[in-house]
Amino acid sequence: MHGIILSTIQQFAKQEYGREAWDAVQEGAGLEGTLYVPMKEYPDEHVYRLAEAAGELTGEGARQFLVDYGRWVVEPLVETYNVHVDDSWDAMELIANVANFHAALRTHSLSNYTPPDVDSGWVEGYEGEVAYLDYDSPRQLCDVARGAFMGAADYYGAQINFAERECVFHGAGQCRFVIARVGSDYRVGRDVGRKSATHLSDTTWAEKGFTPTDD
Ligand code: HEM
Repeated sequence: MHGIILSTIQQFAKQEYGREAWDAVQEGAGLEGTLYVPMKEYPDEHVYRLAEAAGELTGEGARQFLVDYGRWVVEPLVETYNVHVDDSWDAMELIANVANFHAALRTHSLSNYTPPDVDSGWVEGYEGEVAYLDYDSPRQLCDVARGAFMGAADYYGAQINFAERECVFHGAGQCRFVIARVGSDYRVGRDVGRKSATHLSDTTWAEKGFTPTDD
């Protein structure tokens, strides 16, 4: 796992829930005292363990924690990596360009890191109004993407709807989202925001072959 994800999870948890809560989360995850830095690589399990422990603390579950983190992290990422984000973009352009700037941000210094396969762009005939995002990664962090759409809307003061048309947690090979500016005449289907992410949280990490006690 790319260190930027873990270091921002650490920042998010400390800022949102306080330093003591973060210590408790790390302890609950069996990862006491681990310091996360952006340019290192960490086992993927750290994310799941931390999310599980944090989700238990909040009472909302691991997947909701990742949605909340995804929502929060857009602003710090845009500000940290601002050379990759065009000043003229709005929320929809940021989303349509996710594949472009994630590819540009890829670091080659991480030895075993498997980058996510992300494709994004405009839905034909709806340029500027409706975007698609296909996400394929062994890490299955579509909850972070779901939160990040809301984070993009918050950051730019925009109103968007989105739906996850296919999801790995429902047996699909990858996650496929469609995202539309509110007011466009495109029907995205039911909104898969905070509510249904909570609903989906009955899918546990164990179903993905991971148990929090694994090393
Ligand atoms: C709506 C906006 C965004 C979405 C949907 C999104 C989605 C994601 C997801 C799902 C991951 C985890 C990938 C994995 O490891 O499987 C990720 C990682 C990452 N994101 Fe984003 N992200 C968004 C915005 C941003 C922004 C604005 C930046 C910085 C300018 C950024 C930079 C990164 C970096 C550096 C990583 C880790 C490295 C990598 O995945 O290659 N993201 N993003």
